[in-house]
Amino acid sequence: MFTKTIAVLVAASAAWAADPVTLQIKSGEVAAHVSPMLYGLMTEEINFSYDGGLYAELVRNRSFKDDAKEAVHWSLVQDGGGAASMALDPATPLNDAIGTSLKLTVTKAPAGIANEGYWGIPVQPGTKYRASFYAKAAAGFTGPLTVAIVGNDGTTKVASAQVAKVSDAWHKYEVVLTAAPGAKASAANKLVITAGKPGTIWLSMVSLFPPTENNRANGNRRDIMKLLADMKPAFLRFPGGNYLEGNTIATRFDWKKTLGDIAQRPGHLNDAWRYWSSDGMGLLEFLLWCEDLHMQPVLGVYAGYSLRGERVAPGAALEPYVKDALDEIEYVMGDAKSTTWGARRAKDGHAAPFKLEFVEIGNEDNFDRQAGSYDSRFAQFFDAIKAKYPALKVITTAKVGSRTPDVVDEHYYRRSEDEMASHAHDYDTRPRTGPKIFVGEWATRVGEPTPNMSAALGDAAWMTGMERNSDIVIMSSYAPLFVNVNPGGMQWKTDLIGYDAMNSYGSPAYWAQQMFSAHHGDIVLPVTAQGIPTKTWQPPPPRTQAGQPAPPAPAVQQVPTVFYSATRGAGNVYLKIVNRAAEAQDVRVEISGVSVDAKGQSIQLAAKSPDDTNSIADPAKLVPVTASVDGLGAKFTRTFPPYSITVLVLKAK
Ligand code: AHR
Repeated sequence: MFTKTIAVLVAASAAWAADPVTLQIKSGEVAAHVSPMLYGLMTEEINFSYDGGLYAELVRNRSFKDDAKEAVHWSLVQDGGGAASMALDPATPLNDAIGTSLKLTVTKAPAGIANEGYWGIPVQPGTKYRASFYAKAAAGFTGPLTVAIVGNDGTTKVASAQVAKVSDAWHKYEVVLTAAPGAKASAANKLVITAGKPGTIWLSMVSLFPPTENNRANGNRRDIMKLLADMKPAFLRFPGGNYLEGNTIATRFDWKKTLGDIAQRPGHLNDAWRYWSSDGMGLLEFLLWCEDLHMQPVLGVYAGYSLRGERVAPGAALEPYVKDALDEIEYVMGDAKSTTWGARRAKDGHAAPFKLEFVEIGNEDNFDRQAGSYDSRFAQFFDAIKAKYPALKVITTAKVGSRTPDVVDEHYYRRSEDEMASHAHDYDTRPRTGPKIFVGEWATRVGEPTPNMSAALGDAAWMTGMERNSDIVIMSSYAPLFVNVNPGGMQWKTDLIGYDAMNSYGSPAYWAQQMFSAHHGDIVLPVTAQGIPTKTWQPPPPRTQAGQPAPPAPAVQQVPTVFYSATRGAGNVYLKIVNRAAEAQDVRVEISGVSVDAKGQSIQLAAKSPDDTNSIADPAKLVPVTASVDGLGAKFTRTFPPYSITVLVLKAK
């Protein structure tokens, strides 16, 4: 964990602290129960989340399908005195799924091709890399081929291996490339395949994997998995987001095409986010990701609506899509012996069914403006799922009237810290009847590529509201989760975790979530507050509609600068205090119903400026500090620094 641990005594009230806030916590009472599913993850292929991100494949455009005309991200290697040409060759496909290949013609050896990776091929000293590729030689060429990781200078050979013979039929070749213990840790490398003699050869599905989480052959990056594990997420919502829907029906996430051997996966154009998806992160990989992090899958199924407005009419036309969703559920949780898709999952390497409790029908179907379209489509999916799997809870993505969903997915992207904070009490007054709420996407969108401290403060204020109302808000997940910070890597600003080929880091907003998710009890305690300070906020004017006069500016609001939440469990009271102000804040805490030890723990994220942030260059500028504290008890006063988020862990008997 990237936290700092120090021991301090409880801070005396600082001279500049504002008038004290008083919080009265009734520890013997139960305001609500904290949902065990409250904190989870939402994910989709955006900002190079999987390809060039979590999915550990290092070769970009491995099946030569990223572009129909050119072998993008590949180049010729002729600097050893050789000469060669290359071209895509759809006339020589690898198979039905991968309907093309790269034809390499070497007229003077040695010469070959190089892949630039996702902004570089990362190398760590003393590490083994698994390289594989399919090849087929023309008459007259039998090898050898050299596979190597080479520095971008063209001369530094980091690791290399030879394939002595190549046959005239498609065949998979595998080698291990070992970087020497003295190799430089760097991403300034390429993967190079060189022919030792003149001839023609076709190549396809060229792959290179570093060591992965749990050593899975088609697995995930270890550093990013560690960041996620530290968040202790309860669930993973996948596969989107807009990525689930695609711009068109044809470019939706078509799960059946994401199964099995990667050489049998066609991949698809992720037109929602404008780049090719290898589908290396397929349905089973999502599930294994859940398994590795002990998360429950929250499965989004395609519901017959795509972003550019293509939709499937409810009724007979929608039936195949409903059937597809039922098959998908069966793939996740069906018995390996008695169900078709459970058997397919077992064939793919996972005989045991996965636990599945929640299925979501579509994504943001409020954008389907055709009257009644989603309502009818939802009803068809809902009825079919409930008939076959009565225990499954069905999540709606928009208002429906024809059925009563178990859960409603609500999305909130806020443009400023003040705006997010102004909504932190929204759920306090929500009716307690009706479907539960899943805040399936939310974020304070300040900072790019990753959120800064101001965003983290808005997020933390918002999380106190969700936690306090966790009787109705049973699940929540920030979005987007990931961004590759290289130029061209980001399609959506303000993403929780940033990385490049070599390194990854959590934003201040990541740490705020990690603090909330890893420190809470199972009971929400009633808290009465006095003296909460506020600041003035002028909400931005609504967007002017074309041809309409500019709407009047909304009324100025007073938005609190202090937010709080208290929960109890495992012998502790967890008190969260967010101080958004530029001044330190004294808080008087009075806890009734339990006796509280003088000694406890503080976990605190604080910044000098709300603009402070983390980055690849400075990944740990802002991280939580864990400290032993003294001077606590049933009544105490404590000072919370400017721009700070604090969890106080109070030992309560
Ligand atoms: O998180 C980015 C996008 O925001 C999601 O794909 C979509 O569901 C929402 O509009």
